[in-house]
Amino acid sequence: MSICYVNGSFEDKSKAMISIQDRGFNFADGVYEVMSFYGTNVINIERHLKRLEKSLEGLKINFPYTNIKSLELILKKIIKLNYLDNGFLYLQITRGSSHRNHLFPKAISPNIVIFTFNVKHDEKLTSNGVNILLSDDIRWGRCDIKSISLLPNVLEKQKAFENNFYESWQKRGDYITEGSTSNAFIVNENNEIQTHPSNNYILGGVTRDTVIQIAKLNKLIVKEEPFNLKELKECNEAFLTSTTAKILPVVKVNNVSVKNGKPGMITNKLIKKYNHFIDCEINESN
Ligand code: PDD
Repeated sequence: MSICYVNGSFEDKSKAMISIQDRGFNFADGVYEVMSFYGTNVINIERHLKRLEKSLEGLKINFPYTNIKSLELILKKIIKLNYLDNGFLYLQITRGSSHRNHLFPKAISPNIVIFTFNVKHDEKLTSNGVNILLSDDIRWGRCDIKSISLLPNVLEKQKAFENNFYESWQKRGDYITEGSTSNAFIVNENNEIQTHPSNNYILGGVTRDTVIQIAKLNKLIVKEEPFNLKELKECNEAFLTSTTAKILPVVKVNNVSVKNGKPGMITNKLIKKYNHFIDCEINESN
């Protein structure tokens, strides 16, 4: 049995229902978050819920709870009801259900869905690194909103998979924005960590922000400036970040090796430090 949450009720996933007039279903008019948990500790919960609030604001959907704490309690309850030691939470909030009309309906309350899921972690990806496909970024101009409208991302990820790549890194002109499901980093020729700034062209990843903070705490220089194809070609190391993948070394781009084609020293250091950060979050009392 898998228990999910729909608009205030906890139900078995197979029985949970949402209207066919849900605007998420009809217009992709909604936002989401993916969070990881260990025990009942949701990793980086403040950052995720802050981003959720920003995404809702971006779509002019009211935050549907009196405060963040009430949502936190629901997340913890879902984890407990599913008897899981660890895994991921998917949280989706849409504008609500109404007759199909592009205009925002007046009397409407958001639809909220939360469920848990698992991703098999392949340790080999962390130790050996991954191969990345480059593609054009065809998404809209508000990639900072974690919108459920993910079609360009879905198509890119599928294309990468079908061609034996782990992920696709998207570019606007000559500049890499981010992956289809992750943020993109290089360690440049000067051994500075470089990644696209957090603006409307990328999703401000929670893992990205945490990794930047960890890097700075460890006296590494971080340059939040976009890198171009030439810089990518000449970089010392590359890696990607996301909640589900954590940090993965990128050892090839379009089948061409990054330096010696092995995970770099700085990347490996960040992986160690990030794992330590997660351990600390796990050990924090609830
Ligand atoms: N994806 N950029 C995009 C386009 C993403 O979809 C994601 C995450 C990230 C990384 O963000 P974070 O570190 O907060 O997970 C960057 C999630 C995991 C998903 O859609 O499944």
